[in-house]
Amino acid sequence: MTATEPNTDSESMSPLLEVCDMHAGYLPGQDILRGVSLELGQGEIVCVIGPNGAGKSTVFRAVYGLVPVRSGQVICAGRDITNIAPQDALSTAGIAIVPQLRSLFSQMTVYENLELGMYLSSDKAEVRDRIDYVFGLFPRLAERARQEAGTMSGGEQRMLEIGRSLMWSPRMVLMDEPSAGLSPLVTHQIFEVIAQLNHDIGLTVLMIEQNARQGLEASHRGYVIELGEITYEGVAEDLLADAEVRRAFLGAR
Ligand SMILES: Nc1ncnc2c1ncn2[C@@H]1O[C@H](COP(=O)(O)OP(=O)(O)OP(=O)(O)O)[C@@H](O)[C@H]1O
Ligand SMILES: [Mg+2]
Repeated sequence: MTATEPNTDSESMSPLLEVCDMHAGYLPGQDILRGVSLELGQGEIVCVIGPNGAGKSTVFRAVYGLVPVRSGQVICAGRDITNIAPQDALSTAGIAIVPQLRSLFSQMTVYENLELGMYLSSDKAEVRDRIDYVFGLFPRLAERARQEAGTMSGGEQRMLEIGRSLMWSPRMVLMDEPSAGLSPLVTHQIFEVIAQLNHDIGLTVLMIEQNARQGLEASHRGYVIELGEITYEGVAEDLLADAEVRRAFLGAR
């Protein structure tokens, strides 16, 4: 299954997330991101590719208030959220993250890991409803509700991380390398799951992928980031066909 057409009704014409000329970095005086601009529309799947160390994960961290933005803006649903406190990124801006490194509590069950996705809520009935909702989207997780997360396969663990990111009904999910460490077959399954969620519930996804070809094939649009700057952007099909992008990032000769 491939990405479906994003929703383009009038309310969704302005992007859900807009990053404008963002400069950000970890150490004083050292900008890792040097004027990054990108946008994510309601219902879109957008893929960010680029070499190791280019600053891809830093973009996510800066959007999430985990790395200081020194200049530029982050706008979410029309509101300036530049340098938002990380705890507000999910609860008020509605931005969920699936981080690059494995983030499950491996000795806790699938169910308990999902509960933690709602740690901001003390309403037990609401938490149960959301878990039922996620189980509806991922029947495989429902079958394994009482299994320890760390004993599941790599692909199942990634699905659980994606499921957990949906617990708080986010406006969008930022996924940092959803296919990392997975076999080609399971990578394919994960992209199918993302496309299915986009189709069924209109999920908006900004993802980073090392697996550039498959990531772009599963997306509507893409960006290439190199040395902290966007060097290519466009419709995914155009990036997949671009001779320079193919040579540098897609392994074509
Ligand atoms: N906590 C940190 N303190 C200082 N520098 C950092 C920190 N985290 C990352 N960096 C530096 O920022 C640059 C960009 O890192 P980032 O993690 O954003 O790259 P990336 O594009 O996601 O790479 P990869 O594909 O390997 O995940 C790198 O040079 C990295 O060394
Ligand atoms: Mg990274």
